[in-house]
Formats: sequence, structure tokens, C-alpha cells
Amino acid sequence: MNFHLTEEQLAVQEAARDFAQSELLPGVIDRDTEARFPKEQIQKMGALGFMGMMVEPSYGGGGMDTISYVIAMEELSKIDASASVSMSVNNSLVCWGLEKYGTEEQKQTYLTKLATGEALGAFCLSEPEAGSDATSQQTRATLEGDYYLLNGTKNWITNGSSASIYLVIAQTDPSKGHKGISVFIVERGWEGFVVGKKEDKLGIRGSDTHSLLFTDVKVPVQNRIGAEGFGFTFAMETLNGGRIGIAAQALGIASGAYELALAYSKERKAFGKPISQHQAIQFKLADMATQIEAARLLVYKAAWLKDQGEDYAQASAMAKLYASEVAMNVTVEAVQVHGGYGYVKEYHVERLMRDAKITQIYEGTSEIQRIVISRNVLK
Ligand code: CAA
Repeated sequence: MNFHLTEEQLAVQEAARDFAQSELLPGVIDRDTEARFPKEQIQKMGALGFMGMMVEPSYGGGGMDTISYVIAMEELSKIDASASVSMSVNNSLVCWGLEKYGTEEQKQTYLTKLATGEALGAFCLSEPEAGSDATSQQTRATLEGDYYLLNGTKNWITNGSSASIYLVIAQTDPSKGHKGISVFIVERGWEGFVVGKKEDKLGIRGSDTHSLLFTDVKVPVQNRIGAEGFGFTFAMETLNGGRIGIAAQALGIASGAYELALAYSKERKAFGKPISQHQAIQFKLADMATQIEAARLLVYKAAWLKDQGEDYAQASAMAKLYASEVAMNVTVEAVQVHGGYGYVKEYHVERLMRDAKITQIYEGTSEIQRIVISRNVLK
């Protein structure tokens, strides 16, 4: 067993770290305060190859492994989880499924733009009445000759108003339950497609979360991915990989908060010495470091299993469950180490604490991860 990163993985880590420091850090507090999408930064991430890291080079991607992707996610999430969630959705939830299950025409038309960062993608599964209970899709796609008419509402869509290519899950045959669900590629600008309300969120405030409304949107049959009825399996398989990306995001948020707390503890003096010399703080740092290391092992293992072509559904759920709990614990402790300074924006840790919470909610709540894990261990 080799725990060392390869030369290529180390280069990705360095590039992501440099980019986070030079391009994401400046302005991150203002973007959070103003709930402003990091548009320019995402464009630069596309140009640097962060938006289609695992896609084959022939489609404009980086052709990298999943480990490289989680390393980049971790580094960028240390600084700006609003930017990294856009990256995660584009890589894991949009590019991956299109590359694996799309037709050659779909890949040439859409994947090539998504992988290079020329276009941003969104994954549209959640609905007002279908969050955790993803089989209860109310959005309908009705076949009318050579196109479908799409009607319904999607909620909580990351990249909602910034994307131009949307993977939309919809019911094509309600009598078949989850086996009657299909998935479609929908373009921004098609008649009847309206971007709805923007969510005013606790954390990842720079990310662009919207509801989407579809009224008689004409979707050509050739924009369906896979056969009719394949949509739910597509969504579940896609989320298995997506959860690795969010687990890496949680790991990054935790690591970012820990690094800030560690540095602060060496500078801040109380009772005549740096607070890092007090055992109360040392024990916190030890717990944070241990939890982060354990989370990293789970995240890398899930990524490694995916790269080996082995089953990673359980591993990705475990990685997301644990890393998101660690993100929450560590960010709360990082605020505590900073004392009053931790409670103000300038020191970043309060933002990281707010950002951490979403990692226990999106791409399946912690309860959903426990369902996935328990079903696996019991089968
Ligand atoms: N991987 C592959 N297949 C899976 C799967 C998985 N993890 N989980 C379920 N399936 C398959 C099952 O094998 C079954 O297939 P068959 O019918 O062929 O046997 C089918 O899906 C239905 O499964 P269940 O009977 O288990 O369905 P269920 O309704 O009891 O529960 C669930 C399924 C696991 C709870 C699922 O609904 C789920 O994962 N819900 C959470 C949805 C979610 O994560 N939403 C996040 C939205 S996306 C987002 O947040 C993106 C963003 O913008 C950041």
C-alpha cells in the first residue's frame, strides 16, 4: 500500500493551492457578504482545466484520475467552497454522466464545452416535493413525436442561473415509479425555461442556487441520455461519484479551518504564552488533525476505488458522511480557538463554519448516506 502522491498529483495540488491563494482568496469575504457568484474565478478555473479534470482529453478534459480531482477540490475548498461546489457539480454530476452514458453527438455538442469550461453545467434532480425522496419526481416529460414536452419545477439547483447546459431528471411514465424516470439535456434559453428564485443561504453564499421552471419546454428526443426509464439509475450512479466530490469539499473546509486555527494559536498570546502552549488548545488541535486525517483516508479510498473500476457507492457515502461531520466539528472548534475573533468575518473561520453545514445536506443528507451504507452492509 502506497500513501504517497504521484508527481502529477503533487503538481495538481500545487496548482490548486496557488490558484486558491492568488485568485480565490482576494474578495472571498465580499462575495460571501454580497452573495455574489465567482464568475471570473470559475472562468479561470475552466481555462486551467479544473472544470473537466477527469474527462478524456479528446473531449477537452484533463484525463486525470479521481484522486487528482479530490486533491484539487480539497485545496480550492480550503479557501472558497462556493467556487468549489460549482466545480464539483460540473465535474462529477454533469461531465461524468455525459461522458459515460451520452451519445457521441451529445458528447461533441455538450461535453466538449463543459469540460473546457466554455459552458457551465447544472444537475437538476431535487424538486419542492422530492429532495431525499428522489423517486417522487413530479416533473413530467411527455413524448410528442420527435420531442418531449417538459413541465415542472426544480429546486436548490447549484449553478442555477450561471449554467447553460442542464441535466434534468423527469418522469416519462408515472405508472412505472422510479423505472419510469428519464434524464434529458436541456439548454438555457429554450422557450418555456425560466430561472426562478435565488436562494438566500446560510453558507456557500457565493454559489448560485436557484429554482428552475419548465413550461412546455420542447426537448428533442436525441437529448435524452440513455433509454426511457434510465434516469433514476443515472441519477443514483452520478450521485455516487458526486458524493466523493462533496466529501473532498468537506475535507477542504475542515483543513482550511484547521490551518487557520493552528496558525492563530501560535500567534495569539494569553496568560503569558502563545495559546498553542496551553493544553486546552493543544487537545483541540490534536483532535482536529486526527479527524481530518481519518476523513482524508476515506475520501482518497473512495476516489481510488472509483479509479480501479470497483464498486464505490458505499465508500463514497461513508466518505461524505464522515468528512461532512468532521467539517462541522473542526470549523466549530476553529471558531472556538479564535475566540471572539473567530466570530467576525475578517478571520474566515465563521464563513467556513457556515459553509460546512451544507456538506451534511446536499447530494444526500447524512441520513441518506446512512441509508446507502446500511443497505450495503445488510445485503
Ligand atoms: N447507486 C446505484 N443505484 C442505486 C443507489 C446507489 N447509491 N441507490 C439506489 N439505487 C437503485 C436501487 O438499486 C434501485 O434499483 P432497482 O430498482 O433497479 O433495483 C433503485 O435505485 C431504487 O432504489 P431504492 O428502492 O433503494 O429507492 P428508495 O426510494 O428507497 O431510496 C435513496 C433511494 C437512496 C434514498 C435515493 O432516493 C437517494 O439517494 N436520495 C437522495 C437524493 C439526493 O442525493 N439528492 C441530492 C440532490 S443533487 C444535489 O444536491 C446537487 C447539487 O446541486 C449540489
